Amino acid sequence: KSVDLHPTEPWMVASLYNGSVCVWNHETQTLVKTFEVCDLPVRVAKFVARKHWVIAGADDMQIRVFNYNTLERAHMFEAHSDYIRCIAVHPTQPYILTSSDDMLIKLWDWDRKWVCGQVFEGHTHYVMQIVINPKDNNQFASASLDRTIKVWQLGSSSPNFTLEGHEKGVNCIDYYSGGDKPYLISGADDRLVKIWDYQNKTCVQTLEGHTQNVSCVSFHPELPIILTGSEDGTVRVWHSSTYRLENTLNYGMERVWCVCGQRGANSVALGYDEGSIIIKLGREEPAMSMDSNGKIMWAKHSEVQQANLKAMGEAEIQDGERLSLAVKDMGSCEIYPQTIQHNPNGRFVVVCGDGEYIIYTAMALRNKSFGSAQEFVWGHDSSEYATRESTSMVKIFKNFKENKYFKPDFGAEGIHGGFLLGVRSVSGLAFYDWENTELVRRIEIQPKHVFWSESGELVCIATEESFFVLRYLAEKVATAQETKEGVTEDGIEDAFEVLGEIQEVVKTGLWVGDCFIYTSSVNRLNYYVGGEIVTVAHLDRTMYLLGYIPKDDRLYLGDKELNIVTYSLLVSVLEYQTAVMRRDFGMADRVLPTIPKEMRTRVAHFLEKQGFMQQALAVSTDSEHRFELALQLGELKIAYQLAVEAESEQKWKQLAELATTKCQFVLAQECLHHAQDYGGLLLLATASGNTTMVGKLAEGAERDGKTNVAFLTYFLQGKLDKCLELLIKTNRLPEAAFLARTYLPSHVSRVVNLWKESLGKVNQKAADALANPTDYSNLFPGLQEAFLAEEYLKETHVRLRPAAEYPLITVNMSPIEHSVPVPANIQQLHIAIEEEWDNIPQATINSLINSM
Ligand SMILES: *[C@@H]1O[C@H](CO)[C@@H](O)[C@H](O)[C@H]1NC(C)=O
Ligand SMILES: *[C@@H]1O[C@H](CO)[C@@H](O)[C@H](O)[C@H]1NC(C)=O
Ligand SMILES: *[C@@H]1O[C@H](CO)[C@@H](O)[C@H](O)[C@H]1NC(C)=O
Ligand SMILES: *[C@@H]1O[C@H](CO)[C@@H](O)[C@H](O)[C@H]1NC(C)=O
Ligand SMILES: *[C@@H]1O[C@H](CO)[C@@H](O)[C@H](O)[C@H]1NC(C)=O
Ligand SMILES: *[C@@H]1O[C@H](CO)[C@@H](O)[C@H](O)[C@H]1NC(C)=O
Repeated sequence: KSVDLHPTEPWMVASLYNGSVCVWNHETQTLVKTFEVCDLPVRVAKFVARKHWVIAGADDMQIRVFNYNTLERAHMFEAHSDYIRCIAVHPTQPYILTSSDDMLIKLWDWDRKWVCGQVFEGHTHYVMQIVINPKDNNQFASASLDRTIKVWQLGSSSPNFTLEGHEKGVNCIDYYSGGDKPYLISGADDRLVKIWDYQNKTCVQTLEGHTQNVSCVSFHPELPIILTGSEDGTVRVWHSSTYRLENTLNYGMERVWCVCGQRGANSVALGYDEGSIIIKLGREEPAMSMDSNGKIMWAKHSEVQQANLKAMGEAEIQDGERLSLAVKDMGSCEIYPQTIQHNPNGRFVVVCGDGEYIIYTAMALRNKSFGSAQEFVWGHDSSEYATRESTSMVKIFKNFKENKYFKPDFGAEGIHGGFLLGVRSVSGLAFYDWENTELVRRIEIQPKHVFWSESGELVCIATEESFFVLRYLAEKVATAQETKEGVTEDGIEDAFEVLGEIQEVVKTGLWVGDCFIYTSSVNRLNYYVGGEIVTVAHLDRTMYLLGYIPKDDRLYLGDKELNIVTYSLLVSVLEYQTAVMRRDFGMADRVLPTIPKEMRTRVAHFLEKQGFMQQALAVSTDSEHRFELALQLGELKIAYQLAVEAESEQKWKQLAELATTKCQFVLAQECLHHAQDYGGLLLLATASGNTTMVGKLAEGAERDGKTNVAFLTYFLQGKLDKCLELLIKTNRLPEAAFLARTYLPSHVSRVVNLWKESLGKVNQKAADALANPTDYSNLFPGLQEAFLAEEYLKETHVRLRPAAEYPLITVNMSPIEHSVPVPANIQQLHIAIEEEWDNIPQATINSLINSM
């Protein structure tokens, strides 16, 4: 039956026919509080924010006051002798007014224990609605089924006057809140809406259209519209000065009972038989513009105001904080401004709204020119602008005089200003030359916005899903225009080059040099340069970019409540990035010293992503980043220096790898040592055949407990004694025994004894089963020969032969080469193998090789 919006919380209170009162959060769309009032319809519920109350009036004739924080009922009293229809809360005094089917209106004072301060008598039927005059809080108006509207004064119990004209009961009433017109609006069961001048007490307009009883009317407190709701199920939207029907809303939720707009917002709550709806009306974007000197102009209703950033003084500014600016009234505008836009040099502003535009001087808001147009855009040159008259006609003006008009081939659904004139139609976006209106290029795209850089070299075309950055190739266009080559019906093929597409929705944007700064649909403040996106800030609400002032190194944004905030963005960084994008490294080097140290790494990352590693390495101040870059660039010296400073094992490992790929083995070795990478060292030592290194590694590895590496290195060097001792030391006794049995038979006995002893501690039986060769020589055939071979090989192993000698070595060591006499039996063995060689099957040889 009723809805009301909270002035500060995102809440709507709805009173229901079934006796409940519900508070909804309309941002999260959740029910936050419920009050079970009674079993009868609750026809009205209102917020009293300053007391944290919800006040409800029901068909049980009671007024109930609830605290919406504690959910407690603060008060309840019988207010009338019939159904309560309406409650009006006084904006400043502790009063509420109530109206009822008992034909009375009563005033209640909550500071005086809810005493009834006054009774207003005069209506002869139900009093359906009462409203307090927003321009005079002592006056209120009432609508009654007695077909009249009455205007009352607080303090006087009889009405000041009565407005008559409806032919059936009047259900609803509202005051116009703008200062310019003394108007009331009413809706009645005669299905009509009437606008009244309450000063000369005449009906100035009747709005016809609803096909059933009109149940609610409202002058929107912010927008130039009237909303009317009816039992025909529709809400109609009318222009508040032309009374043109702008829109008919039908959500199919049966009868409409109430409509509630809100000051400072463009949301409207609607109440129906089957539920309630919050709609947003009008343009989200505030009518606001800034010139390049920091003068901001905006429209508050139809009043134009100006704030000057320069007047702010030296106060410390925090990113994202609302600026407190001195605001100057510039005067009121003849049209209701939907947009305000400075021209490029800032001398003029254009105000657009209601199909009209007026160009004012920015200084004094004196009108310079005006006309009717669906849309208005400034050109690149400050003296140029274009208007769109209809969906087919575009006019171009120069120095405030109409210069040309033309009908674009596919019509004009929208126009975009800037370096070239953009015309949007079903077939896409067509760019025209401002001078001669020749088609430059048609692009198949449906843009929301087109943003040109100041130089006219770059353009951003933003759509509903993403944005494109294009380069405009003016030279190619000039050539094509001259030679007529490459010109099709879609214009000049080579006019643009696509530089990138980004899957982000641009809300507002502007160029600084080659950097495109924008706010996105997810409330980020970003900029795009050379394919990279840099986030400047995460915004907590929707903000609109106003401009960038290089001298302050700051970006300025406004929100729809006309607050201004700022974020710092260094012009030096933007200039540097622009220079890099233009490959102008001379310029970049000149700008670099002006970039603060803490920003250098960000710039370096940008350079890196653009492929300028060397420059990035020179600019970066972050040692991690520099190390990465040095590695990528193969800058061993720099990387080495950074590794020394960082003392990080990881860095040494990375550097070792690089040094190895660069054949810098000495460096690689040092790095591997620092990294304690014995595996790596082993690989390097053996692969490079560096005996000294293998030797050192063995000792180092053993000292550091890297036994595997130590064992291998000793083994490679033929230091079998060391291998054996290592196994014994590490309690690898069985392995030690087998090693001895294979290579050092003279040690077998000692090792087996150690083994037996050790094993005996856990399993005596097993230990006893181990046979020591000295005691059981019969079990070890050939042991004596093995001793001999060991003696013989000791000699030959002393001299380590470099890999280079490999080709000189014959199949096996022939006795002739050696001064040491070879025992006869080993000679025989050699001969036997050589003789039998051809008869040994290949498989056996393979397995022999494998086992070696
Ligand atoms: C009234 O209707 C609302 C919405 O359907 C519901 O949440 C509430 O519980 C109902 N109250 C009563 C008293 O039935
Ligand atoms: C209404 O009545 C009050 C008191 O009688 C008077 O002061 C006021 O001027 C009247 N206003 C109008 C608009 O008639
Ligand atoms: C009353 O004032 C309105 C303007 O608000 C005007 O249009 C109308 O003609 C006036 N009526 C009379 C009867 O003076
Ligand atoms: C409109 O109001 C009349 C009383 O004037 C009432 O009888 C009728 O039922 C109402 N129409 C609807 C659709 O409720
Ligand atoms: C422009 O200003 C002139 C006088 O300065 C005024 O007569 C005219 O109505 C104004 N027009 C608009 C549209 O503001
Ligand atoms: C072999 O390694 C040693 C240090 O372990 C080093 O001093 C020497 O330069 C290396 N020799 C070669 C040829 O790399």
